[in-house]
Amino acid sequence: MVFTRAASALLMTTSVAATGVLLPLYTYPSAEYNDGAANWKPALDAIAASSAVPWLAVVNPGNGPGQTGQPGNSDVNYIAGVSQLNAQPNVQTIGYVRTNYGTSPPAELQANITNWASWASYSASNIGVDGIFFDESSALDFEYLNTAVTYARTAFGSKKIVTICNFGSAAPDEFFTICDVAIVFESFLNSPDAPAYMGEETIDANTPDGYEAQAAVVVHDFVGTAADGRAADTTLLRSYVQEAKDYGLGWLYFCSGGYDSITTAPATVGALAAAF
Ligand SMILES: *[C@@H]1O[C@H](CO)[C@@H](O)[C@H](O)[C@H]1NC(C)=O
Repeated sequence: MVFTRAASALLMTTSVAATGVLLPLYTYPSAEYNDGAANWKPALDAIAASSAVPWLAVVNPGNGPGQTGQPGNSDVNYIAGVSQLNAQPNVQTIGYVRTNYGTSPPAELQANITNWASWASYSASNIGVDGIFFDESSALDFEYLNTAVTYARTAFGSKKIVTICNFGSAAPDEFFTICDVAIVFESFLNSPDAPAYMGEETIDANTPDGYEAQAAVVVHDFVGTAADGRAADTTLLRSYVQEAKDYGLGWLYFCSGGYDSITTAPATVGALAAAF
């Protein structure tokens, strides 16, 4: 399912959009040089095992597209990893940039977006990305972000891209008109504000009515106990996923480590896929 603005607006009026996984795939693709992106295999397996679930995988060679300026950052490991992602029909690959709370110089941000768009020009394999993830976007000036998002839509030409904005907390309605996906909650599991349930209080309060299908919730350190005392196990993971679906939340991610680990139990990437 492609979450273009037009498509999601249409879906909201005609059907309920499926809840998907917004995966920050920040771990380096390979354990050893040219090993076929072995570190990403758990994610590739999880995506393949959940073919009815839409995935957005955010790739991040170095707080951006990487230093070489070349598609794939001239790195066989990234090229192998991204091409394997792109070979799966239910995932869209998203390139990472950071606005640094509105302090990243627009020219630098734009150069990185142009670089991400250029990954599609690599001819030896399909490593084109489907959108841009704007990190560190909390408390951003609307015009700053609007200029950056508009730049991205233009940079990809006729390709309809997915724009993801990480606010990490509530964002005014107007941001949902430019961001296809907005992270409205990002925290560790045991935070007093963390969702002891999906779709109520914090999440509902942070999501403007009618934009639930564009909202995303990201929870790390899914270990120990949740703020409501429930054990952080795969049963809790399944119940959060079900509650998110019932609420009509667009996207979610739970992990037990930081974003550089997809294999820390109990919320491994495989367990998350199995919770759907
Ligand atoms: C641009 O990309 C470079 C290389 O990945 C990174 O060092 C820099 O922080 C990025 N800047 C922005 C604004 O994304």
